[in-house]
Amino acid sequence: MDTIGKKRILTGDRPTGRLHLGHYVGSISNRVRLQDVYECFFIIADLHTLTTKPEKEHIEELADNIRQMVLDYLACGIDPEKSVIYLQSAVPEVTELNLFFCDLVTVPRLQRIPSIKEMAKNANLSELPFGLLGYPVLQAADILLPRAHLVPVGKDNESHVELTREIAKRFNFMYGETFPLPDVMVSDFGSLVGTDGQAKMSKSLGNAIFLSDDTKTVQKKVNGMFTDPNRTSADVPGRVEGNPVFIYHDAFNPDKAEVEDLKERYRTGKVGDVEVKQKLAKSLNDFLDPIRERRAVYEDRSGFVDEVIYDGTIRMREEARATLNAAKKAMGLSSVWNRISRKAEDARKKREKNS
Ligand code: TRP
Repeated sequence: MDTIGKKRILTGDRPTGRLHLGHYVGSISNRVRLQDVYECFFIIADLHTLTTKPEKEHIEELADNIRQMVLDYLACGIDPEKSVIYLQSAVPEVTELNLFFCDLVTVPRLQRIPSIKEMAKNANLSELPFGLLGYPVLQAADILLPRAHLVPVGKDNESHVELTREIAKRFNFMYGETFPLPDVMVSDFGSLVGTDGQAKMSKSLGNAIFLSDDTKTVQKKVNGMFTDPNRTSADVPGRVEGNPVFIYHDAFNPDKAEVEDLKERYRTGKVGDVEVKQKLAKSLNDFLDPIRERRAVYEDRSGFVDEVIYDGTIRMREEARATLNAAKKAMGLSSVWNRISRKAEDARKKREKNS
């Protein structure tokens, strides 16, 4: 890994399982490009899943979800030779840093962060768990533990990086310069609409096309896609703007001339939904084919995914220890314990010599 002089990125995901097209356009494709320019750390944020799903049954699902997600990373071209992929819960330093950060932020400040209420609502929680309120504080610990300079995230996480900067500033001001202030990089794609036309593609909404869906499944999902509801037959002029079928064409069909032709004919009522959808399914499948192939290769290599996560986690632990030591030193916490342990050892030695 050639990391000399490279700035560092920290980003990642909660492991909810297989990734879909929305993940690809919103974050994964960007990460694949960034890993050549930056030293990248990708966190598998399993502790963050506990903020809304602490039940044992969900924890039991983590191992498989992690495996599926990392297979998708690798299939998309995230390269473990270049980047570090690590498991949050196996780096205990993050929880200690999180605790220090909890003292540098107020409850009203956290209550103003809109994504928290959103997550509570989506999880059907009528009252806010303490840990969920602290979600962005834990994220700040994730980001600052490897002392990242840049954090690529979706719009919904922008406020978390803003909070991270505030915490870093406050820490540096109170204890001395320790953390770089990370910049946010918000995905310019935004989020991809679901196949049902809802604003966001998401597993829980059941409107996702997964990167690991096979050809037939993609075909079927595309056939069932929401289009212009006012278009009752092929000769009725249709709306292209905001139409999910054309949004996908724009994002995944490399044949721009074909897309323009379809749009023109759609607008003038000269093409049926069937043709538009068939061409879309074909380009989606062409796009997914190499991803599926690479996925199958990694899936067959027994233990490979586990090794990637293991090695990445060991690597991250070095960073974590170094940063946590620096933080505790800056705070003056390590010297409290150092003084006590030195005196205790001296006293013990003296006693042993005298006896
Ligand atoms: N909050 C992110 C999400 O929406 C996951 C995450 C946890 C993360 N820690 C992070 C993202 C650190 C970027 C940086 O799933």
